[in-house]
Amino acid sequence: MTLLITGGAGFIGSHVVRLFVQRYPHYRIVNLDALTYAGNLANLRDIEQAPNYTFVRGDIRDAILLDNLFEEYSFDAVIHLAAESHVDRSISHPLTFVETNVIGTVNLLNAALKHWEGRFDGKRFYHVSTDEVYGSLGSEGYFTEESPYDPRSPYSASKAASDHFVRAYFHTYGLPIVLSNCSNNYGPYQFPEKLIPLMINNIREGRPLPVYGDGRNVRDWLWVIDHAEAVDTILHRGRVGETYNIGGNNEWANIDLVKFLCDLTDELLGRSPGTARQLITFVKDRPGHDRRYAIDASKIRRELGWKPSMPFEVGLRTTIQWYLENTEWLQYVISGEYRVYYEKHYGNL
Ligand code: NAD
Ligand code: TYD
Repeated sequence: MTLLITGGAGFIGSHVVRLFVQRYPHYRIVNLDALTYAGNLANLRDIEQAPNYTFVRGDIRDAILLDNLFEEYSFDAVIHLAAESHVDRSISHPLTFVETNVIGTVNLLNAALKHWEGRFDGKRFYHVSTDEVYGSLGSEGYFTEESPYDPRSPYSASKAASDHFVRAYFHTYGLPIVLSNCSNNYGPYQFPEKLIPLMINNIREGRPLPVYGDGRNVRDWLWVIDHAEAVDTILHRGRVGETYNIGGNNEWANIDLVKFLCDLTDELLGRSPGTARQLITFVKDRPGHDRRYAIDASKIRRELGWKPSMPFEVGLRTTIQWYLENTEWLQYVISGEYRVYYEKHYGNL
């Protein structure tokens, strides 16, 4: 099996690459990543010398590069994770999200179609997507695979569009696709623009903890390696043409999660209880801020036997500990571009 993983230098992608490189020594794994601000080869230091692993720096917006890559490697399968992934950035730069998430995905579909046409047997195009395509829930109910699409941010609109194209290539051309829509991930190597690592870093530095709006927006958090396990399961055993929802069954209002992070981080840093909570600062809400996401993951559990395995408190402690220990990684990723973004987005907070 020769496997193309796109976006493998990002947060989730690096965990997926690591899992496949370590678990499948007989697979040839090619990681294609443009190394945007969010991609970092330091995320893969421990496996970069593995004989079954190759890194290619390249952009999925470049159709010719993709064509050449398919020609050179004759991929059997694709796991497509490369994307612009941060909602706040999509609000200031929507077109970048269209270019990478929509056009980049269609480029990849075209390359797979051209090189696999007439020989679809054993091939698989796996598109990794998000629960945000389903829109926003009230206090009741869950997203199922049948929930109508209702994206409300430029990010989720671009992911929804990419999902539609992936399904269209299945129905129109018979491309053997599979899709998953996952809830919010957390764990090591997440870029600190996202809620959990941003809060850990600010607590460590004694900086304000910016909570949007009233802090009552709800997210369903999943340990990133549980997601990587689900990706492995779906790639190998998911049914062609199907979609699987992946979630942690673990809903938290942002403010409760931030308080929990404060208390755990104080404890791990040996600070007196209550220190970090004093840093909590309510700030202007994100425009169009989705109120609640919650996944019904019963299909993947029933059909493929996957379920989350990491208890949340253990996962959070492991994550906080990782960020406190990996200061070199953190300093590297929060230098340069991150500072500019932070100042622009959060002002002089
Ligand atoms: P990330 O931002 O951490 O990583 C994205 C990676 O894609 C980076 O390595 C970046 O360099 C690369 N990339 C970006 N544009 C590219 C381009 N044009 N060509 C090639 N590479 C490019 O994102 P993540 O959080 O790891 O998310 C990975 C995937 O999972 C995305 O498709 C995202 O929509 C999806 N997802 C994320 C979450 C989450 O909670 N983070 C939840 C569900 C689904
Ligand atoms: P985020 O990690 O950006 O993921 P998403 O928006 O894709 O769910 O944000 C998670 C939640 O945390 C979301 O409701 C927005 C909120 N949030 C804050 O309150 N403050 C912040 O500084 C950030 C980055 C997010």
